[in-house]
Amino acid sequence: MERKYSLEGINISVLEGEFLAVMGETGSGKSTFCRLLNGIIPHFYGGHLSGTVTVDGEHTDESSVAHLALKIGMALDDPENQLFTSSVRNEAAFGPENLLFPVKEIEERVKYALSAVGLEGFKERQPMTLSGGEKQRLVIAATLAMNAKILVLDEPLCRLDPEGAAQVMSVLGELKDKHKIAVIMTAHDSKKMLQYADRVCILKEGRIACCGAAKNILSNRTLLEENGIQPPYEADIYSVFTEKTDDCKEHETNIPAVEIKDFSFFYTPENPVAEKINLTIVDNDYIALIGHNGCGKTTLLKGITGLLSPSTGNIFIYGKNTSELSISEISKETGFITQNPDNQLFTDSVYDEVAFALKNAGLSKEEIKQRAENALNMVGLKDMTLFPHALSKADRTRLVFACVIAMGCRIIILDEVDVGQDYTGCLKIMDIANALYSKGFTIIFVTHNMSLVCKYARRLIIMDKKGIVTDVKRKK
Ligand SMILES: Nc1ncnc2c1ncn2[C@@H]1O[C@H](COP(=O)(O)OP(=O)(O)OP(=O)(O)O)[C@@H](O)[C@H]1O
Ligand SMILES: [Mg+2]
Repeated sequence: MERKYSLEGINISVLEGEFLAVMGETGSGKSTFCRLLNGIIPHFYGGHLSGTVTVDGEHTDESSVAHLALKIGMALDDPENQLFTSSVRNEAAFGPENLLFPVKEIEERVKYALSAVGLEGFKERQPMTLSGGEKQRLVIAATLAMNAKILVLDEPLCRLDPEGAAQVMSVLGELKDKHKIAVIMTAHDSKKMLQYADRVCILKEGRIACCGAAKNILSNRTLLEENGIQPPYEADIYSVFTEKTDDCKEHETNIPAVEIKDFSFFYTPENPVAEKINLTIVDNDYIALIGHNGCGKTTLLKGITGLLSPSTGNIFIYGKNTSELSISEISKETGFITQNPDNQLFTDSVYDEVAFALKNAGLSKEEIKQRAENALNMVGLKDMTLFPHALSKADRTRLVFACVIAMGCRIIILDEVDVGQDYTGCLKIMDIANALYSKGFTIIFVTHNMSLVCKYARRLIIMDKKGIVTDVKRKK
């Protein structure tokens, strides 16, 4: 049955200097909760609101979003939708400039906020050219620059590399302790919340399932699991991946699916974004590719899928140089699944979505039907008549999987598909990757979630700006 309310029966107050973590499954109401606090609900969204929300003594429905912005700094969950100025500096300065602060103070705040998130040196860059994690950092910086008494951050950590996430959490911890800032954050990372939050509120289907001291709630495994939250977990990649990968030895026994030779990519030669990468990915490899925000992971994946041409070097797919293949030829071998399935879905039904590229490839009706049904079966999507955008995010990602499987891709590339998914959603998606791996597919996935790396990958590759720094295999 469809739920009548996004949130219902909510009673909660947050103190000055308190850190409240709001947790729960996808769709439980976390983002609605955040949007209520800075007044964009009710002022910008439709819907019906009863009850009251009071921020620093003011009723949000009687105040304006602009006025509430003096008190509340808000980072929404999708950085793409929040960045709109022409430079990183302007983005961080936008809030304080609108509040008409003196120029010197604005520049000080911008400097503080950008360095708090590790974006020193990015001031003149256009926000749209930043990597996923750099965009997320900028959204957090713009929120910090407001110097507000209350910070509301909707899933600020999921695109950040582990060091970036630790840096942001320690800045927030300091603001809370030294300046009595109230922090309200939605998150899936129960280990971080155990470390920093005072209180945890778990939402379930729009209601408060429980609310209490972080250490009590986060030590209750059953409660967490019932609510789709992964209990605090120490993911130690170095104890799971211990064997050095020997490319030459791999080569003798297996066909290389992807060979990357001296790959470099730059927008301007003085600033290479990926440099001298050499890597052999054998058939039926299962790789986790990790590294700092901005180290060039997405750039490398775009190189493999033909979306970018190497500035120098070559990439071979099953022995063929991609520089001699068209994008459509490459896309028959490599399927690229990004963190936003919505950018990849555009028809009216699950079946049409899978059939679309097959029709374009000129296949017969029978073959299209057979391939589409097989692929949907493999990902476990049964109802082929559903409207793609009405599916849950995990199911929308599964649908993109089905599209690339139906095309016959044997190499599946996943770029942070866990972002914006709750733990159950992550497992649903990675279990498909696992099933494909056991059928002989080659899987390459990028993530900042070390528990997924430990649980699924067979080989771990760590990159930094200078190239590949670690290449190890799972302990036998
Ligand atoms: N148009 C551009 N001009 C200049 N630099 C760019 C441009 N596009 C991307 N970059 C830079 O290239 C670097 C590599 O970006 P890439 O998206 O590959 O990083 P990433 O490893 O995927 O990071 P993340 O973990 O944040 O997703 C980043 O520092 C990014 O800012
Ligand atoms: Mg990336």
